[in-house]
Amino acid sequence: MCGIVGYIGQREAYPILIKGLKRLEYRGYDSAGVAVLENDDIDLIKCQGKVSNLEQMVLEAGTPKGTMGIGHTRWATHGPPNDVNAHPHTSENGNVVMIHNGIIENYGPLREELIKRGHTFKSETDTEVLIQLIDNIQQNNDVTLFESVRIALNEVIGAYAIVVMDKNNPNQLIAAKKGSPMVVGIGQKGEYFIASDATPIVEFTKNVVYLEDEEIAIVDRNDGLKLVSISNHEKTPYVQELELHLEALEKGGYEHFMLKEIYEQPRSIRDSMRGRIRPDTGHVELGGIRDYIQKFVNAKRIIMLGCGTSWHAGMVGEYLFEDLARIPVEVEYASEFRYRNPIIYEDDVVIAISQSGETADTLAAIELAKSKGATIIGICNVIGSSIPRATHAGSYTHAGPEIGVASTKAFTAQVTVLTLMALHVAHQKGSITSSRFHRLLIELNDIPNMVETVLKQSDKIKYISDIYKDVPNALYLGRGYNFPVALEGALKLKEISYIHAEGYPAAEMKHGPIALIDEEMPVFVVAPRAGSYDKIVSNIQEVKARKGKIIAIITEGEERIKEMADHTIEVPDVDESLMPLITVIPLQLLSYHIAVMRGCNVDQPRNLAKSVTVE
Ligand code: AGP
Repeated sequence: MCGIVGYIGQREAYPILIKGLKRLEYRGYDSAGVAVLENDDIDLIKCQGKVSNLEQMVLEAGTPKGTMGIGHTRWATHGPPNDVNAHPHTSENGNVVMIHNGIIENYGPLREELIKRGHTFKSETDTEVLIQLIDNIQQNNDVTLFESVRIALNEVIGAYAIVVMDKNNPNQLIAAKKGSPMVVGIGQKGEYFIASDATPIVEFTKNVVYLEDEEIAIVDRNDGLKLVSISNHEKTPYVQELELHLEALEKGGYEHFMLKEIYEQPRSIRDSMRGRIRPDTGHVELGGIRDYIQKFVNAKRIIMLGCGTSWHAGMVGEYLFEDLARIPVEVEYASEFRYRNPIIYEDDVVIAISQSGETADTLAAIELAKSKGATIIGICNVIGSSIPRATHAGSYTHAGPEIGVASTKAFTAQVTVLTLMALHVAHQKGSITSSRFHRLLIELNDIPNMVETVLKQSDKIKYISDIYKDVPNALYLGRGYNFPVALEGALKLKEISYIHAEGYPAAEMKHGPIALIDEEMPVFVVAPRAGSYDKIVSNIQEVKARKGKIIAIITEGEERIKEMADHTIEVPDVDESLMPLITVIPLQLLSYHIAVMRGCNVDQPRNLAKSVTVE
């Protein structure tokens, strides 16, 4: 997704902007640009490609000098990635410049109206339409830059996070948001930082203000920060203290963020349980949903909402809540749910799952369910992001910043929180025996150590990856709690190595996919002893009978499958309900090693964004 940075203060703007854009690279993008107000004129440099391309251009053109500027990384929505469509975009006279994250849905009619008023356009973007509209309003009315932005935004339909700079207004940046994230960092006196998320800001200040939808921030180096709604009502800025730490944004000696985050999982799972589990006394404490536990206990249905990996976590949540708490669960792709006119009851409990807390489809699905009276519980990783602010209550995953586009530690943190929730509700309902409840708490508490054990097999997993790094296709199979793990493993492989992969319930093979099996097809089977073990042994035999290659994740010490499989990866034995936290680890490492061997950009895979803030 697009990344936005803005700076106004006493320091040179360009070094802050370019470093901020690098911090935002993980969001995914295809072009970059900066604009700095230098001696009453705007120095604008932009290009298709990586931030490093932009730096090279700046090196050749000369570093822009000035203490106010904006920067942008673009993830193309309207118009292909190229130099012209890159941001920032300017008014025709070049006096006003803007960066934008989001989609202006009514940009077509607005563009036609502006052409009638004599405007011409250089790019194919919706962003240029908005900056021309702002300029048209300012040119034809005796209004301030803030007023022209406010009036323009009242004509806009869609999502936006924008920062606007006017060379005739050297002490002010105007920022505004709706549906796309925006945060303002408060620095030393008269110094402000604006960004899509806190990562470019945290090294300068911990004091931030998260803009709400339809809020405009007037950031003035002399008059300070002022918030006004687009309906022209002044609002008091709510200053929060960031919990983010700078070292969490560095690779810490790992080659890629994704590898670092895979290896962080013992810690991130432990942090997701910290203060929430007391295996010795048999207690689960989820303060964030304490007031809503009865909603769960009385719920006739739980709806899980999410996208991608978060949807897979919701699938694990379905098995957990139905198995342990005996509550019917439906798992919905948020992007489908929001448009299919679903049946939603007031006593429904919706669990919205999101790492970034900014996924547009999940946000929209939440608003729909909320409008029908359902109770919305969030499971998010980014504190203060839009989804937690849209829910009635929730529990953060505390996995720390996840920079790699492929979600890893967020998934296991989400499943950890879902396990805690299901156990807590089951215990409250009495739908689980006390002995199983206590046993599961003890085993859950030991999961971080078990994950450490699995991570120690990375070299063996790397060896297996080398054998299969050039296959064109792959199948992932699992049963019960491990069926969502098969889906997640397939997603990991395809999104970072670009190998086509499918996850399937193992029993479904005979209903079609078995036709794909031949000696070229690797089949990754999640086959721990806990669960439908004998059945999955049969599924493996069906594949072997057709010369398929079997790479099986098995319980340590298990022999039957070891004799059948081409390769096995052994994991500790735990209750079936906790298996996803263990069996997903080898699949994360497999996809990572294969992607690296194929020379793929592991942390920023092609076409992908870390936070999908557009529909
Ligand atoms: C997972 O590896 C992908 N990066 C993607 O599917 C992601 O899970 C999805 O976009 C949802 O993002 P969220 O968890 O931030 O809402």
